[in-house]
Amino acid sequence: METNPSREEIINRIAAAKQKLGGDLVILAHYYQNTDIVSSADFVGDSLQLARSASQQHNAKYIVFCAVSFMAQMARILCRPEQKVFHPNLEAKCPLAEMAVIGDVERAWSLLQKTGKKIVPVVYVNSRADLKAFCGRNGGFVCTSANAQKAMKYVLSLNAVPFFFPDENLGRNTAHAMGISDDEVLLWEPYENTPTGQAADIARKKVVLWRGFCYVHVAFKPSDVEDVKRTHGGINVIVHPECVPEVVRLADHVGSTSFIKNTVENAPAGSKWAIGTEINFVERIITDNPGKLIVPLKEWRCREMAKVTPLKFLNVLENLVEGREQPEVAVDEESAKYAGIALERMLTIS
Ligand code: 13P
Ligand code: SF4
Repeated sequence: METNPSREEIINRIAAAKQKLGGDLVILAHYYQNTDIVSSADFVGDSLQLARSASQQHNAKYIVFCAVSFMAQMARILCRPEQKVFHPNLEAKCPLAEMAVIGDVERAWSLLQKTGKKIVPVVYVNSRADLKAFCGRNGGFVCTSANAQKAMKYVLSLNAVPFFFPDENLGRNTAHAMGISDDEVLLWEPYENTPTGQAADIARKKVVLWRGFCYVHVAFKPSDVEDVKRTHGGINVIVHPECVPEVVRLADHVGSTSFIKNTVENAPAGSKWAIGTEINFVERIITDNPGKLIVPLKEWRCREMAKVTPLKFLNVLENLVEGREQPEVAVDEESAKYAGIALERMLTIS
């Protein structure tokens, strides 16, 4: 029976494969990825930065994308048709992205149309390609945690109601940050038979949200914030906006992965931070900022991001070197066309 190569061997073979592939290859990785993958990547970013980077990789023949699979699909949609996109494990699916499916969204959409209000669909990037395409077809766009407020402001400036899916917490935290109260928010229940009488109720709301959540970020509780503040006097708590509003309310700062990274990196030496987001990323910030006291608000790993292992990543690279067939990331033509429109709209407003 063949044994798995050691960590050191994997790292060396990744470097050797990268060298052989040279300029034909570009590796993009999300901040939540394993450190050995992040160290080998040409570009590391949050989902907005990765979308932009994928759209700018004009020279590479191969893009290897390390993250959950919807992000690799996003790269497929944004890069050139002749480029090939690979992902080390297409089974790495973000559960939040699976919480809205096209049939349910279309059912909600048709009821929302009956309110007579102008509604604009805004889909969080953590979503399937056909939902992004739905937004492209219906005058809407994609957003990420880094630009959700811009997206919502833009829709409200059109005198329209944003229909935001699938992350309720990001939608609610964004609405709160803009002074919109819970009374002005309608929560769409995708798993219930929404009574048609709700149409009148919807007409009085400023924002419609979908009931979806990230299991990693809802793990942070208000008591975690209270405990860390009690343990470390003067500590700053910074969290991702997929956390529940009760946690965001108690935190000192809220923002996307790149916002968290920049805020902590730019803080003075000796400052204290508790970070409420995925643990791979938090551990790296701790290593990269030795002069500060940094603790995780809780140690919580995204199991799906972790399905992209250094060994699987190495296999993709060595298959490319050896010219072995392997599955490419694919998005059907129709979805790619309209999802591309929604993604380009996002890049324009950001
Ligand atoms: P970012 O947009 O901050 O990269 O977040 C993506 C994500 O999946 C957070 O859980
Ligand atoms: Fe999805 Fe949450 Fe993992 Fe982000 S942390 S990829 S939203 S499950």
